[in-house]
Amino acid sequence: MDSLALEAVTAPEPVTDVRSAVTLYVNGEETEVTLDHRTTVLDLLREQLGLTGAKKGCDHGQCGACTVLVDGRRANSCLLLAVAQDGSAITTVEGLADGDTLHPLQEAFVERDALQCGYCTPGQICSAVGMLKEAADGHPSHATPPDALTADPAPLDAEEIRERMSGNLCRCGAYPRIVEAIEDVTP
Ligand code: FES
Repeated sequence: MDSLALEAVTAPEPVTDVRSAVTLYVNGEETEVTLDHRTTVLDLLREQLGLTGAKKGCDHGQCGACTVLVDGRRANSCLLLAVAQDGSAITTVEGLADGDTLHPLQEAFVERDALQCGYCTPGQICSAVGMLKEAADGHPSHATPPDALTADPAPLDAEEIRERMSGNLCRCGAYPRIVEAIEDVTP
């Protein structure tokens, strides 16, 4: 028998409590936190900062309920390690309104009654904010016709909105009104 096979293998000690101080700009406020390196942005927002708008749905980046904006771009906050976002600006659904004035997308969701249980709604709205910016900047989607690929802004119809919002699932099936609400604020 191979003598090497009998040697005990010592596994390295797991690294369990490495903490660092990071500075984030959360909804416009400079926020300094010391956190475990394994902390996701979603857990930081919900557990340490008390911002529970972003929801933990699948915790695997598949449902979009945790969508926030990071430096203006939509992202699944359950997949982002907070320590890697040092210096970033993070906007959650709590940061979209201007005082008592709702963001136009929030207003449109209310007007269209674009929700049932509402669990997915903060993620839907943050995602729609990011999506409209992507389209305004001319980013195409899989639904963009080839002859419109260089359009700036990219054209948005219901099919485009459905495709671009396909990363945000709604277990209640409120999709028709979600699309209508987004169409209401589409330039
Ligand atoms: Fe219930 Fe979308 S409104 S999951």
